[in-house]
Amino acid sequence: MKAIILLICVSTFALADDPDYHFSDDFVFGAATAAYQVEGGWDEDGKGESIWDRGTHEHADWVADNSNGDVACDSYHKYKEDVQLLKTLGVDFYRFSISWSRVLPTGKIDQINQAGIDYYNNLINELLDNGIEPYATMFHWDLPQPLQDEGGWPNRATADYFVDYARVLFENFGDRVKHWMTFNEIMQICEAGYSGGSFAPYISNPGIGGYECTHTVLLAHGRTYRLYDSDFRADQKGQIGLAIDSYWHEPNYPDRETDQQAAEVDMELNYGWFVNPVVNGNYPDVMIERVAKNSADEGYPQSRLPVFTDEEQAMLKGTFDFIGLNHYSSDKVYFADEGAGDHPSHWADTGVIGYQDASWPGSASSWLKVVPWGINKMLVWIKDHYGNPPVLITENGFSDYGQLDDYDRANYYKDYLYEILKAINEGGCNVVGYTAWSLMDNFEWMAGYTQRFGMHYVDFNDPERPRTRKLSSYVYNNIITTRHVDWDYYPDWPPAEK
Ligand code: BGC
Repeated sequence: MKAIILLICVSTFALADDPDYHFSDDFVFGAATAAYQVEGGWDEDGKGESIWDRGTHEHADWVADNSNGDVACDSYHKYKEDVQLLKTLGVDFYRFSISWSRVLPTGKIDQINQAGIDYYNNLINELLDNGIEPYATMFHWDLPQPLQDEGGWPNRATADYFVDYARVLFENFGDRVKHWMTFNEIMQICEAGYSGGSFAPYISNPGIGGYECTHTVLLAHGRTYRLYDSDFRADQKGQIGLAIDSYWHEPNYPDRETDQQAAEVDMELNYGWFVNPVVNGNYPDVMIERVAKNSADEGYPQSRLPVFTDEEQAMLKGTFDFIGLNHYSSDKVYFADEGAGDHPSHWADTGVIGYQDASWPGSASSWLKVVPWGINKMLVWIKDHYGNPPVLITENGFSDYGQLDDYDRANYYKDYLYEILKAINEGGCNVVGYTAWSLMDNFEWMAGYTQRFGMHYVDFNDPERPRTRKLSSYVYNNIITTRHVDWDYYPDWPPAEK
């Protein structure tokens, strides 16, 4: 026992002193939110209706607590307070998203809502005045409803409207916003929104809707990147990426070859699906083959996976300055003997079954088990497959039910950040920054306000929506200021100051 204690002391001491176990000075730390989840003001000052406004209003009973984002954290009115929270937290940047419907109420440039432009100008200026860099996501799921009425993302014309919208953003904010993310989590936009029917616009068209949606979104991403190149980059000198979510898929039995293959297929069809086109210009070969084969077996005259033309491939290839990674958890995978999922479906196309190990600690979200080593393997996989691109971790975080002494969240950040340091130091991964999800509790989509991810507690029963610091915000601040993970650091609790 003594030996173990000694070993722990020695290793803690060694790490605290070891320069390799510190984040470099140019590594940036931030915190994230998204417009629909925090802003509220859903129809204020000329904002148009989005698919999440429509979806939660029409199907209140589909949200766990019948709630919606009409008011949410009321950041539309309280953004200055949010900026003070960020300042106290000590972050370098704030990752927020812009509501397309607040800027362009119809989704199109026939009508520009000056009040919406003013809101984001005020937020951006407030951030910069407080020494915090604005990192803006152009699309975090809230498509203007009028564009959904024309078919939404499976309609290729939506890419034209997105590029017009992106131009408005570059013109109005690009003098101060130097980090852009076009899209947040294409998997959720498309598979949940247009295949599985579990997120707005709640369309169920498995095996087709998600592929058609993704194709348009990727073209919109690539064309936005090229627009920046041709019209804005020289003056504005910013960077553009996109935020893609993924589990790490671990082979069920790491030594079994078929499980290793299953893990590789799962990574390619769930992550490479979105990243390979922006790095290499096309969907992964294994995905093209598998969807084509299943489509033929199912009697389709052609593959359900749309095809990029040669020009489109050339246009898409290399359209990133950084890859954004949203990562929360992992699973273990193996090939299903009888095939996986109903046909047609994306799941059947992967042919892989995944599950989360019962020994992994849980959270308030059924899908989120704590698997810190998964982020390390994920980062190494990205390095090995895409030539070690700059990776910005655009989301990582933990859900609970709202306790202020949120030790589990604090420990999650410590454990995951330590694995990120290992991926940098031992894995040679080019990780440029980290974003904690989330700055504060907010509207957690179909879970409403029942699951909380914030480093600040928000009282949703109080019309003032007061914010209160949680323990994890002190721990994150300690990591940012010391630039390493101090296993022993916890603030005195409850804190003396208010
Ligand atoms: C999304 C966030 C969401 C978080 C936790 C990500 O999928 O980008 O909007 O709140 O995960 O579920």
